[in-house]
Amino acid sequence: MSADLFSSIDRELALAHQQKTFKYETPLSGPTGGHARVLGRDMVMLAANNYLGLANHPKLVEASIEATKRFGYGLASVRFLCGTQDLHLELERRLAGFLGAEDAILFSSCWAANEGVFNALLANDFGASAGSYKDAIYSDRLNHASIIDGIRLCRQIHKGCDLRAYRHLDLQHLEELLAADDGAGYRFRIVVTDGVFSMEGDIVPLDRLYAIARRHGALVMVDDSHATGPVGPTGRGTPELFGLHGQIDILTGTLGKALGGAAGGYIAGKKNLVDFLRQKGRPYTFSNSLPPAIVGATIAAIDLIEKDPGIVECSRKNTAFFRHGIEAAGFTTLEGSHPIVPVMLGEAAVAQDFAKALLEENVYVKGLWYPVVPQGEARLRCQISAAHTQQELEHAIRAFTKVGRQLGVLAR
Ligand SMILES: Cc1ncc(COP(=O)(O)O)c(C=O)c1O
Repeated sequence: MSADLFSSIDRELALAHQQKTFKYETPLSGPTGGHARVLGRDMVMLAANNYLGLANHPKLVEASIEATKRFGYGLASVRFLCGTQDLHLELERRLAGFLGAEDAILFSSCWAANEGVFNALLANDFGASAGSYKDAIYSDRLNHASIIDGIRLCRQIHKGCDLRAYRHLDLQHLEELLAADDGAGYRFRIVVTDGVFSMEGDIVPLDRLYAIARRHGALVMVDDSHATGPVGPTGRGTPELFGLHGQIDILTGTLGKALGGAAGGYIAGKKNLVDFLRQKGRPYTFSNSLPPAIVGATIAAIDLIEKDPGIVECSRKNTAFFRHGIEAAGFTTLEGSHPIVPVMLGEAAVAQDFAKALLEENVYVKGLWYPVVPQGEARLRCQISAAHTQQELEHAIRAFTKVGRQLGVLAR
């Protein structure tokens, strides 16, 4: 009965409040950047995936207004009806060029891209008789929820699709699983990984993963949502960092982080893969096309990154400055070089209290806790941006130190 459903919901929400695992939304009253207007005050923003500081860059704002004026507000259509403009094709070409791929295809989000891709590629008989083939997906256990759900959806429809989940970044485990399946008669095998894992900020050793996959005849899919922009010498992501630029079979990513931070996703790869996804990708076929404002601004974002390597460098310098400062203050972080800097606090309640106290000090950051991260590993995930000034980062480090002492995380 619906009445029971709603009282169950009430109990569940009350429990989340009691256990301090409720996810609060603290609204911003303006754009996001190195700082943002929150609760009537200016706060240093450490919670955005705005790695290159483009989310409110004047060139992107201008490009989005220009695109809206020229191409309108919305298309009122999916791509294949009347939702494709020259602008969409231009962005797909530019993304492919930036990523060294033959072609690229836009989605309404990277979630949609990841959710639809397995289904499109594997739940397809390609002319073989039903039940005569099996496929296998090898997936890092900490892959993003959209990959997990995409695989689940595919396996609902394609009963012959096996899932092998390997321990996080444990490439020996991956190779054991692949080797155990060699000669098992699989039709297609895909190894799928995040390029950068969002909870930890750790980077997949893609060169090793790629070599292992190839040794066993498997394809490689990388979700580079947190890497396109801040990772690699010129921001082209984990393939560039590991000498595999343009070589990943299926490369997915978002426009909702470093590439401007609005919304949208893409898949880049071989031309025939992209052509096929335009036919068979259900979130592509049955969901609206991206608005011109986003498409135009993303082209401007790619222009900026291609022309000015200083942007990527600035994100790197700011990250090193913050990491060094927060560690010198006595906090434990997870090692790494990515602008995701997780400050480890232990229990969810500590992370919640810490984040609340930081708001009082005009620092905006969010906590993560179980089940998003393992029990006892609650943290504040700080995300550094090229938009941060040194003063903003210094203020954040001072505020962390003050609250850390108040809450007994740091010695007084
Ligand atoms: C690794 C990863 N993949 C995919 C997504 C989803 O991206 P989008 O916001 O474009 O749906 C995210 C967003 O949090 C992500 O972190």
